[in-house]
Amino acid sequence: MALLNILHYPDERLHKIASQVREFGPELQQLIDDMAETMYAAPGIGLAATQVDRHIRMLIIDLSEEKNALQVFINPEILSMDGEIVGEEGCLSVPGIYEEITRAAHITVRAQDRQGKPFDLTAEGLLAICIQHEIDHLNGKVFVEKLSRLKFNRIVQKLKKEQKKNM
Ligand code: NI
Repeated sequence: MALLNILHYPDERLHKIASQVREFGPELQQLIDDMAETMYAAPGIGLAATQVDRHIRMLIIDLSEEKNALQVFINPEILSMDGEIVGEEGCLSVPGIYEEITRAAHITVRAQDRQGKPFDLTAEGLLAICIQHEIDHLNGKVFVEKLSRLKFNRIVQKLKKEQKKNM
C-alpha cells in the first residue's frame, strides 16, 4: 500500500468531472486500498478519487471510531433526497477550514461495491452529509464553493497565503 498525494484547493484538477468506473480489477482494488490508507493517515472520514488526482467515480467513507468500517461507493447516484440538515464540514483538500453547509437530511444512494455488486443505501445525519460532500468532488465541486461569495473569497485568500508560506 502507499500513501497518495492529496490535491489542495484551489488546484484546478479538483474541478475535473470524474468518469464511470467499468473495470473492477486489481488496479481499482489497489487504488481503494491506497486511498483508505491515505484517508486514515490524514486522518479523515471521507475521500473521493478526484482528491488524489484519479478522475473516476469512486469514493470511500469510514465513520467508525476504530477505523475498521470502510464503505466504498463506486458510480454512486443519488436516487432521492429530502429534508435539510446543517453540518460543519471540513475537507482534506481544504485543510484548516470548517464551515457550516446545508445539505439534504435524508438520501437514498445507489452504487456498486468494490467487486462491482450494486446496492442501495438510505442514509441520514453525518453519513448523508459525507456522501453528498464526496459525490460533489466527483462532479468537480468543493464544499467551500457553496458558501457566500464573501466567505469564499476570504477562504481562497487565506489558502493562497498559506500555500505561499509553505513553498
Ligand atoms: Ni472533501
